[in-house]
Amino acid sequence: MAEVRKFDGLDALSRAAADELVAIIHEAVAARGACNIALSGGSTPKRLFQILAAMGKDALPWDRIQLWWGDERTVAPDHADSNYRMTREALLDPLALDPARIHRIRGEAADPGAAAQAYEDELVRALAELPLKVPVFDYVMLGMGPDGHTASLFPNTPALAETSRFVVANPVDSPLTKGPTTRITLTAPALNAARHIRFLVGGADKAEPLAQVLDGARAPDTYPSQLIEPSHGGDLVWFVDDAAARLLEKGTS
Ligand code: 6PG
Repeated sequence: MAEVRKFDGLDALSRAAADELVAIIHEAVAARGACNIALSGGSTPKRLFQILAAMGKDALPWDRIQLWWGDERTVAPDHADSNYRMTREALLDPLALDPARIHRIRGEAADPGAAAQAYEDELVRALAELPLKVPVFDYVMLGMGPDGHTASLFPNTPALAETSRFVVANPVDSPLTKGPTTRITLTAPALNAARHIRFLVGGADKAEPLAQVLDGARAPDTYPSQLIEPSHGGDLVWFVDDAAARLLEKGTS
């Protein structure tokens, strides 16, 4: 069973997750000389990014940290819906991070399938631990939508069944995406190979799906966050706030 840590509001959740991420980064750099992080999009992570930025550049070995994304919308990097833009405004620009260590998904590409393949190739080149070939992140940050999706693994979409590709263009038609669109997303095999997988989930609108994902019957096509479980010896922790945890049956720490 995954570990669930409950906090009194998003700010406390974000501070605890940031503190743990700092420790994980230092451990990864000490052990392997680098730390590769896949960031989540959406709105929840923004507070954590702001907390990291407020620590100042000297708080972390940014010259050893590579930033990636778990998914991206098929929009330009300066579009209001861009996950990259949110991160740039909250973290990248305030710390003036070196673009050479920022691995953006090309959401603006005319061919999302080609952009997904290019990102997979970049990931495998940088992170595949031979002979496995699966890219191994040190840290994967995930959010969860009110429909139980994570990254851009939306209910009843083709990407859920992907067992060999690591990045795909996923056709999505959901009220959450303002109608039919294509998302570029890491797949469960890529996310699950990570050493440390962390969900950040806050808000009352997440209470029902969170209870379904954690306490409900296994139904990953309906609740894709259930696809997330460490596959290569990593660990999974859910950072949740009180409002999101309201309907949970099992214990939280
Ligand atoms: C995205 C995210 C997505 C997000 C959830 C939760 O591109 O939107 O990757 O998976 O984490 O939709 O979003 P909120 O944090 O805004 O609730």
